Amino acid sequence: MSRIKPPDSLGTGGFWPAGGEIVGEKCAMAQVLMNGWIEYSLSKERFRLIATDFAAAMDDGLNGRPSSLQMLPAFVGRPAGNETGKYLALDFGGTNLRVAEVELCGTKKPRINKIHKVSLKPTGGGVDYTSANVDVDALFEFIAQQIAIVDDGTDALLLGHSFSYASQQTSLGRAKLVGWTKEIKVTGVAGQDINGLLSAALARQSIGNIQPVAVINDTTATLLAAAYSQPEADLGSVCGTGHNTCYYEDISHQEVSARVMAYNSESGGFDRLPFSAIDDQLDADSEYPGKQRLEKMVAGRYLGELTRRILLSGRSDCGMNFIDACPPFHRVDGISGIDVAAFVGDETTDLAGISFWLEKQLPGYSGSLAERHFIKAVAEMVVNRSAALIAASYAGFLLRMDPQQRRKHVVGINGSLYEKMPGFAIGIQRSLENLGGWNSEQVLFHLVDEAPLVGAAIAAAMAKDGKGW
Ligand code: BGC
Repeated sequence: MSRIKPPDSLGTGGFWPAGGEIVGEKCAMAQVLMNGWIEYSLSKERFRLIATDFAAAMDDGLNGRPSSLQMLPAFVGRPAGNETGKYLALDFGGTNLRVAEVELCGTKKPRINKIHKVSLKPTGGGVDYTSANVDVDALFEFIAQQIAIVDDGTDALLLGHSFSYASQQTSLGRAKLVGWTKEIKVTGVAGQDINGLLSAALARQSIGNIQPVAVINDTTATLLAAAYSQPEADLGSVCGTGHNTCYYEDISHQEVSARVMAYNSESGGFDRLPFSAIDDQLDADSEYPGKQRLEKMVAGRYLGELTRRILLSGRSDCGMNFIDACPPFHRVDGISGIDVAAFVGDETTDLAGISFWLEKQLPGYSGSLAERHFIKAVAEMVVNRSAALIAASYAGFLLRMDPQQRRKHVVGINGSLYEKMPGFAIGIQRSLENLGGWNSEQVLFHLVDEAPLVGAAIAAAMAKDGKGW
């Protein structure tokens, strides 16, 4: 009978018995997991190399040299924290569209008076506003209609727009979409002025009281919303369907009165990374091959698909032949980020949640305990790598902003992955500390509530006060 003694570094619990050997059925699985661990985990050296390469790519992008980081200026600095007033905020994200009336109250917590949320891709049928069957006019018509649901037409309101896609800004109020990500395919939008399209759609629907004055990336919105209440906030990051980070770059050397300007790095595009064969396959089969390589390793949109591909490709080595008959393993995106969260978060001793999931997919089969442990271990491996890679990118920002590690930093974060994936938030912090040497007193993580809406309202307030460029 085969036997395997797992390396101590893999710890105990779950798949790995305390101090013991693995025998029998689990040996093949253990071998696959150990190989995966080598491929999917980051050593200190690798982590630091990624951080250094990331900082170098930032410098290249900022200085017009070829780089996988776009480093897009946002034409906005730090809010004073005392901005006030009522604004309409629009959040065009990866899966939903939200419109809200947001009231900024100076130092107190912003108030969301009214909110309306609609899925861009309704599960129960209806138009899929992410697909190639929808064109630019239909999309903006739809957005204007959603605005009309919240706006009763009485007050004249300035609108701030959080638009979660890479856009080339020329001022706080104007930005052209560089290109879609997150598998969105709506035609005719790339290269167009986003708030120009929105203003035209509002005019077509005779909505005359709403004036779009600011358009920012969702990471910039997160940074503004964090900095509104915390002066030390200098990074804004989104870990959700997609992934990206924005930061304050020191521009005191330029001929402007502000000391810092927010830059959207489009960090999801970073590509000096240790890709596995599965990463390369997923990329080749995606809508935009070669693009968003970091995002495709870390973002919520892709964690289910990575898990599915790893399990599918390892099934024969592990004797998990049931996978051949289990439909979700044979469908692109057959496993979702929500499934991954359920696998990772299954804390029952017999992994009852995973057993229930299997039974639902393949009636009559709920997997052996070893198989369920294996599924959980693969999902954890994918999630841990995501957290470690994101932490390595943060270490890259910190290296640029504070190479001597002299200051305190606050990272404003928003996104479903950060909020809902078990072990993810702590995984980022631990990786930054254990692999990057930044302790939790120097770098604080602050989950920003409703960041896109609040940040969009702050951007509109700053535009009104003439504090944008
Ligand atoms: C987009 C970014 C965005 C991020 C998070 C990425 O796909 O390119 O602009 O900030 O998703 O929503």
